Order: sequence, then structure tokens, then C-alpha cells
Amino acid sequence: MTLTARILSLVLVVQLVLAGAVGAILARNARGAVAAEVDGSIQATRALVLASVATLIDSAPGPTLVPALAERLVQPRHAWITLYDMQTGRTLAPVSRIPRRDPAPAWFARRLAPVAHASELPIVESGNIRGLAVIAADPTAEIAEIWDDARALALVMALAAVAQVALTAAVLGGGLRPLGRLRAVLGRLARGDLAARAGRVAVPDLAPLAADIDRLAAALAVAQADRARLSRQMVGRGDQERKAIARDLHDEYGPNLFALRVEASAIRDAAAEPALRGHAENILAIADDIRRVNTALLSGLRPMAVGQLPLAAVLSDMFDDLAARHDQIDWTLDLPPALPEPDEATALTIYRILQEGTTNVLRHAGASAVTARVDHGPDGWTVRLADDGRGLGAAAEGNGLSGMRERVALLGGTFAVQSGPAGATLTATLPADAP
Ligand SMILES: Nc1ncnc2c1ncn2[C@@H]1O[C@H](COP(=O)(O)OP(=O)(O)OP(=O)(O)O)[C@@H](O)[C@H]1O
Ligand SMILES: [Mg+2]
Repeated sequence: MTLTARILSLVLVVQLVLAGAVGAILARNARGAVAAEVDGSIQATRALVLASVATLIDSAPGPTLVPALAERLVQPRHAWITLYDMQTGRTLAPVSRIPRRDPAPAWFARRLAPVAHASELPIVESGNIRGLAVIAADPTAEIAEIWDDARALALVMALAAVAQVALTAAVLGGGLRPLGRLRAVLGRLARGDLAARAGRVAVPDLAPLAADIDRLAAALAVAQADRARLSRQMVGRGDQERKAIARDLHDEYGPNLFALRVEASAIRDAAAEPALRGHAENILAIADDIRRVNTALLSGLRPMAVGQLPLAAVLSDMFDDLAARHDQIDWTLDLPPALPEPDEATALTIYRILQEGTTNVLRHAGASAVTARVDHGPDGWTVRLADDGRGLGAAAEGNGLSGMRERVALLGGTFAVQSGPAGATLTATLPADAP
């Protein structure tokens, strides 16, 4: 149950209990009031009948007394007079001048009606009983009045309850509205949008929470920037180390191998013995093997051209070379006209992705066409390599794909492989160059 639903239910329950309590108190008081009113009315009516008989006794003697009395009397408010005429055996009722209001519903009247009782009064004239006045309690008017009051009160209380619920809902709605905004900010932060901020919140109870969220977002942004800087540094260090090893391999092996070849050639040329010439030829062949292995190691450790030539030229060379060596495949490299130069770590990453990606195509895809595209936008770099081969199927990721994924992640980018029966597509994004 939401907080709003809980508070509104609570308000409603309190209102209902209050209405019940007020109803019970009013009912108890009303019952007493009706009984007292009716009792008083019966007493007053008795006195009225007696007084009327006294005033009529001279002017309406004998059998005319009861009809005269019926004419003289008017029905009182909370009692009903019935006159019984001994002479004629008829019953007569005085007129009623009280406008009768709508009676209360039967269930309500039953609850408030006092125990019914009637009072009888013989009408006596010079020792003769001329008739009988029966005075019965009539609480109808009193109960109808109470019913009207109760209805009005219930209406007022219902309106008050509705107003209270509506106002509470409005105040709660207004007070809790910033929570939606704070939730949205937290959602954006969770999705990695560290620029999201809650800003100022007008509700004082929530303002500290908003301020804390903003502090947290700022701290996260700093930590994120630190992490990005550190991992970029790590990638850069690795590249530097490989570069140093490549330089050593090149500088140490190159001259020595060259000297070895010169010496072996000299031995071959100077040798009179064919066997010795054969040994010298063998040394030359071994030196050539070592040079080939060394060259392969060098280009694996560090593609020399990256960082020396524009990236576009390095990639074009790579694709020209692929097209020359594997002409059964249609190779396309799509580069925008003015490609800016990335920093070295990014350039190496783009190079490695295309190198490993194209090697995978040659080894696994059986493709007839391969398209590579490198783009640069305000958000950074995008590399896409698509082939029309058989796709990865259920193949597990090897060192090639996971190496690319790690390197891209270290630079703060994203890496995805989409694959289907119509081919595979690698997509990597790399953030704009580090300052
Ligand atoms: N373009 C592609 N088309 C079809 N299958 C592919 C493609 N690229 C990768 N694969 C599949 O994905 C697997 C994993 O590739 P990954 O490059 O990670 O490892 P690998 O090429 O097998 O070995 P290495 O570690 O030498 O690169 C491959 O074995 C291959 O089955
Ligand atoms: Mg591979």
C-alpha cells in the first residue's frame, strides 16, 4: 500500500469512527429528549382538556359537552386526543392545525420512539360521565425534526470528510511529487548518466535528500573520471612497454642478425670445402628464419605505423594488403573524408579491433564480403566491422574477442557482437580522446 493510500485510509477510518460516535451520542440524547418532550406534552394536554371542560361545562351542558369539547380543542404538538362520546357512542377527534412534516423513515423512528403510552381522562359533568378523552403520545413530529437535523449533520460531516480526504491527498501529492523527480535522477545515475542532478527541491523534508543525491552524483562523476583516467593510463603503459620491447627486439636483433649474415656470407664465399659452404648456407637460412620470426613478433607487439602515419593511411594499407592476399573476398573500408587523428591508445585499439576482426573473418566466417567503417562524432569513435559469413553460432568467446572487449572497456567504451545466419557484425564505441 502506498503512503498516500495508507494516510487516506487512516483519515477515512477516523472520520467513520467519529461519525459513528457522534451518531451514537446523538441517538442516546435524542431518545431521552423525545421521551421527555412526549411526557411533558401528555401532561400539558391533560391539563388543557381539564381546563377546556371547566370552561365549557356551563355553556354546553349534558350531551352537548363532548361535541363542544371536540370543537374547542386543537390537537397539541406531541400528543393525539381522541374523544369518546358516551351519548352517541361515536369517537371524535379535534382538528389538527400543526403542519405535519414528512415523517422520519420507519427504522429511524423505531429507534427513537419512547414506550407507547396513553392517558385516559373521564369527562364528568355534574356527577355524570359524559365521555372519555384518550390522550396518546405522538412523537412523530419530534422524531421527524431530529431526523432532519441528523440528515443535515450527516451531510455536513460527509462534506467535511470529503474535503479532508481531498486536501490531505493534495498536500501529500504536492509534498511527495519531488520524490518522482529524485527517482528519475537516481535512474539516470544508475544508467551511467553522471551529469544528472536533482537541483533545488522546494519541500523542506526532501531538500536534504536531494542535496545528498547531488553530492553522491558529483562524487560518482569524480570517481568515474579517475577510473577512466587510470585505465587509459594502464592501456597507455601497456602500449609503451610493448613499444619498448619491440624497439629492443628491433635494435638488438636487427644489427646482430645483419652481422651474422655478413659473417656467414664471408665464410661461404671464402670456403674452399663444399661441406663448409653448405654449413655457411645453413647459417644464412637460419638467420633469415630468425629475421622473419622477429618481424612477425614486432608487428604483433606493435604495428609500427600506428602513431607514425595517419590512422586512415594505416587502415587503408591494412585493407589493401588483405585485398591483395585474399582476393576471394570483397573488402571495403569506409572512412569519412576528414577523419581526425585519435590519441595513440585509441588509434591502437581501432587498429587491433580491425586486425583481430578481419583475422576472425578469414579464419571462421567463410565470408564473401567484409565492410569496415570508422566514424568520429562528438561522443567519440565508432568502429563497425560486418561480414556476410556464417555467423558465430554458439561459439564461445576466445582470446581474440575477449581481448578486444577488455581493451575497449578499459578505455571506457562499449563492445558488442551481433551475429546471425547472414553474418557477424562487431561494433565498438570509444569515448572522445582523453585530454
Ligand atoms: N566473423 C566471424 N564469423 C564467424 N565466427 C566467428 C567470427 N568471429 C569469431 N567467430 C567465432 O567466435 C569464436 C571466438 O573468436 P575469438 O577471436 O575470440 O577466438 P578465436 O579466433 O577462436 O581464437 P583467438 O584467440 O586466436 O582469436 C571463434 O572461435 C569463432 O568460432
Ligand atoms: Mg580470433
